[in-house]
Amino acid sequence: MRRLVAQTSLEPRHLVLPMFVADGITESRPISSMPGVVQHTRDSLRAAAAAAVEAGVGGLMIFGVPREQDKDPAGSCGLDPDGILNVALADLAADLADATVLMADTCLDEFTDHGHCGIVDSEGRVDNDATNAQYVKLAVAQAQSGAHVVGPSGMMDGQVAAIRDGLDAAGFADVAILAYAAKFASSFYGPFREAVASSLDGDRRTYQQDGGNAREALREIALDVEEGADIVMVKPAMAYLDIVAAAAEISPVPVAAYQVSGEYAMISAAAANGWVDGRAVALESLTSIRRAGADIVLTYWAADAAGWLS
Ligand code: PBG
Repeated sequence: MRRLVAQTSLEPRHLVLPMFVADGITESRPISSMPGVVQHTRDSLRAAAAAAVEAGVGGLMIFGVPREQDKDPAGSCGLDPDGILNVALADLAADLADATVLMADTCLDEFTDHGHCGIVDSEGRVDNDATNAQYVKLAVAQAQSGAHVVGPSGMMDGQVAAIRDGLDAAGFADVAILAYAAKFASSFYGPFREAVASSLDGDRRTYQQDGGNAREALREIALDVEEGADIVMVKPAMAYLDIVAAAAEISPVPVAAYQVSGEYAMISAAAANGWVDGRAVALESLTSIRRAGADIVLTYWAADAAGWLS
């Protein structure tokens, strides 16, 4: 009876697995604040990606972690076709072809020595338009490497329009844009900064949104849709389910929500202490994000949950 009348479904195809691939390591490296999540080598990424696809996940979102000495103020190694993220995308495109939707994080923070998501001016402020020009090159490099979807996560104004134009001009009209449309300046990203060995000293409050502002989030979503976003995303998920619900109301394109590193870390830590049933709470949290209105959920549990669900 419960199955017959269930209003919300949670299926492996709804889930996207974020994965990290690091340059200059010979063995995958655990991320201590995210038990079960690792920085992959190119080879271990290929194996884990194939396993996740086999388990039925809907897509993969790949983040690159360059060597410290390859970072610079402009994040150049993100644009380099031989840079870690681009070679890993090419590996996965060759291995998996159309068996999954291959997504790339289109942001500079992993690649810059200052850790900001963009180009910083002489006064230490992120230069919005100079950053957009760099994002266009980054997106084209990722498309050339085989990404089906680029995911601009830097929250620059006009980034979606700039990337859409740049992709089209480079012959990648078929590459889609998953826009991090309503991304809040959140402390729930803490463990991610370890995951990508971020150099950031400070915060991102000049370009990410204030947690108290719902109206602004909806305006950002509407702007990104107008600029050509194919999917819009709300991030983080659980503390922003009202925004997910409001986005689902107004968005003419699919809505994604990102269950971020801190959400994963909190549930994992409680489970490790025996305080909650980790699997049950993970699935309940994912169901709640779907119930709020997300079509797609990015979650570090994607592969595990796909297995549990089937
Ligand atoms: C920035 C980016 C961040 C995350 C994804 N892309 C971190 C940030 O904005 O500081 C966070 C993801 C997570 O916490 O799981 N490119």
